[in-house]
Amino acid sequence: MDVLKIDNLHKRFPVKGGHKICAVNGISFSIQPGETLGLVGESGCGKSTVGRMIVRLTIPDEGEIVFENQDLRRVKKKDDMRLRREIQIVFQDPYGSLNPRKKVYDIIAEPMRLGGEKDKVQLKNKVINILKMVELDESYLDKYPIQLTQGEQQRIGVARAFVTDPKLVVLDEPTSLLDIRFRGEIVLLLKKLQEETGCSYLFISHDLNIVYQLSHRVAVMYLGRIVEEGSAEQVFRNSKHPYTKALLSATLLPDPEQKREEFFLKGEVPSPLDLPENQCDFVSRCPFANESCKKKRPKPLQIEEGHTVSCFLYNEQ
Ligand SMILES: Nc1ncnc2c1ncn2[C@@H]1O[C@H](COP(=O)(O)OP(=O)(O)OP(=O)(O)O)[C@@H](O)[C@H]1O
Ligand code: SF4
Ligand SMILES: [Mg+2]
Repeated sequence: MDVLKIDNLHKRFPVKGGHKICAVNGISFSIQPGETLGLVGESGCGKSTVGRMIVRLTIPDEGEIVFENQDLRRVKKKDDMRLRREIQIVFQDPYGSLNPRKKVYDIIAEPMRLGGEKDKVQLKNKVINILKMVELDESYLDKYPIQLTQGEQQRIGVARAFVTDPKLVVLDEPTSLLDIRFRGEIVLLLKKLQEETGCSYLFISHDLNIVYQLSHRVAVMYLGRIVEEGSAEQVFRNSKHPYTKALLSATLLPDPEQKREEFFLKGEVPSPLDLPENQCDFVSRCPFANESCKKKRPKPLQIEEGHTVSCFLYNEQ
């Protein structure tokens, strides 16, 4: 059974002049138990909006989000607290996401208290246990966020997400604001926690090297849509969509067989305001664009098992 299944999800944000930004424009994917789905794409393509809809911080306009057979758009009051415990999020900014006036103990205990846990002994045991899991000892309980290194702050952010035994954690760029020396340790920690708990991740990141290390499958987003999806090997070692190839050209990801075509993206991402429906969204930047790319939108096509691409180079329909 899927832990999470998303079907045809849309989110538009109203902006000045009566326009709407299409932040998420018909996205579908699923995540299996214990699996990490990496979600990549340039800034503004809608990654965080997808993550925020899953943790119910943003309300979708259309589409379905189903978590273990439970429709997250229609949550009954009796299920609300349980679902908040089972679906957690770790944010990008380790310091900004921690309350500077609270001690580590209270920061980690808060989601449990909100979930109704009142037994002080239980709370303390659980907080100490989760601190151990993120490789920090009891001496941290009385510290304030400002007394911690960036790496330690993000460990507290991770501990706060894991203290409620979640089944799904949205990791929204959890390493991108960290100093480079802390990134590797947080990646290893996230890997270890997944092995120990069996939880699933939606891992949002710009850093394709880290996405490759952590993800079982990868979805590539462009202007609110998924343009390519497959296993990490399929997307990184046998990418098909011109946009994915361009993203990979810009990274240091090792390519031992020197097979990857090198080309770089020209121009800016087009405005997500009122996007035309009858052309490929990538047409203004694509070196392979032809006349049919300006007349209709390519549909997703499975080109090998588990590997889907939306591009007329593979899909003549
Ligand atoms: N609350 C909002 N109101 C209006 N527009 C918004 C809002 N939230 C996001 N947007 C717009 O929706 C689009 C998608 O934003 P989102 O934050 O999801 O992108 P992202 O892929 O996470 O970008 P980044 O990599 O920079 O974090 C952007 O154009 C953004 O400006
Ligand atoms: S459909 Fe055309 S414009 Fe779009 S990515 Fe493919 S070749 Fe490029
Ligand atoms: Mg974001």
